[in-house]
Amino acid sequence: MSSSIFAARRAQLAERLRAAGGGVALLPTAPERTRNADSEHPYRHDSHFHHLTGFDEPQAWLVVRSDGHSTLFCRPADPEQAVWHGHRLGTEAAPQVLGVNEARPIDSLNEAMPALLAGQGTVWFTFGRPAELSGQIEGWLATLRAQERRGVECPTQCRDLHPLISEMRLIKDVSELATMRRAASISAGAHQRAMRYCAQRFRQGASAVHEYEIEAELLHEFRRHGAQGPAYPSIVAAGANACVLHHPAGHARLLPDELCLVDAGCELDGYASDITRTFPASGCFSGPQRALYELVLAAQQAAIDATQPGQRQRDAHHAAVRVLSQGMLDFGLLSRDVHGTVDDVIANAAYRAFYMHGTGHWLGRDVHDVGEYLSLGEAPVEQPDGFGGTVVKRPSRVLQPGMVVTLEPGLYVQPAPGVPECYWHIGIRIEDDAIVTDSSCELITRGAPVAPDEIEAWMRG
Ligand code: GLY
Ligand code: MN
Ligand code: MN
Repeated sequence: MSSSIFAARRAQLAERLRAAGGGVALLPTAPERTRNADSEHPYRHDSHFHHLTGFDEPQAWLVVRSDGHSTLFCRPADPEQAVWHGHRLGTEAAPQVLGVNEARPIDSLNEAMPALLAGQGTVWFTFGRPAELSGQIEGWLATLRAQERRGVECPTQCRDLHPLISEMRLIKDVSELATMRRAASISAGAHQRAMRYCAQRFRQGASAVHEYEIEAELLHEFRRHGAQGPAYPSIVAAGANACVLHHPAGHARLLPDELCLVDAGCELDGYASDITRTFPASGCFSGPQRALYELVLAAQQAAIDATQPGQRQRDAHHAAVRVLSQGMLDFGLLSRDVHGTVDDVIANAAYRAFYMHGTGHWLGRDVHDVGEYLSLGEAPVEQPDGFGGTVVKRPSRVLQPGMVVTLEPGLYVQPAPGVPECYWHIGIRIEDDAIVTDSSCELITRGAPVAPDEIEAWMRG
């Protein structure tokens, strides 16, 4: 991405700061984390910081004033360190490469920051993230306060920067959408590969396939296409493990007559993808598996139909819940005698026995991306709380072109009295990523087969 995109975003932030009364914004990137001894966890930048700089080295801060001036603190270039850890951009090259007005060494942060804050009415930073940030800022403000007798003006307000940048990130621009389409396509290929791998192993006579083998196929496909890695820990759930919502890929054995649920997506150039597919291990759905699968697919289609500009983000969930609830009654998962009509099932939240999570979330730099879920300009209203009661809060947010959401209904059947045994231990989720367009939504992850016949044909191929 060219540095002009990041410069334009910094200018947009400065404009938002001015509109909110002015001041100075402070953005540290993410800290490095020690794994043990002198080994580090793989480094991942802070998403807000990267959105405004495109800079992915650790130990860096961005300071943006509402007059548009920007300062980057970063590590100086160091030929000796380069031998061990590679090239650093350095303070000399940073202004030209990143388009910031000036760059200073990160070691001078504590010394330089009070002067950057002096005369600014408001200090903007992300509250509570990282936790130690406010303490650091308090220290700089204390330094300034001690200089007030000499006529130095200390800021009088601290405000949360998070909503300002989150709103900027919520609507994706053309270059972001292009990256997200590429990430989605790599992840779709990884799901294709996982399905084929399973079918082949069983055709070759394997009695079981381990979850970790399938995870390895996903990782292979992510990396060979240049993705940096998974956007979140991959879920590979054999059979009954699919009913554990966050089951990590482990050592469990997937048997040929079971379903396999894979929730995995890569991160590419700072952007996440998030796909779930559930497929029959050996390539052929049983009758009960197919029946429940088609129900979840119909629920997802209802969610897709509800995802268009002018609809609310939560409408997809309500649409999916209605289809799933009707299916729970039709398949006898919920008894009509006990639970009544589909409207009763929804009003009493009885469906939560088999569907207990939401149907989607914002997707972007983070897999659960930033952005307010409730309408910004509307008054609170009484509405169902999803647990059988009501709550007073603002309505769900109206969708706009350029927003990206996931659509991920599921059904998870734990053994229980009255639940037909043929459905026990079946866990199904189907998840696609959708860009809201001018008139509807574009599914960017459908490279991964989703219709039952399509999955079976792909696994035979
Ligand atoms: N993979 C995380 C989620 O689907 O929300
Ligand atoms: Mn998701
Ligand atoms: Mn997911």
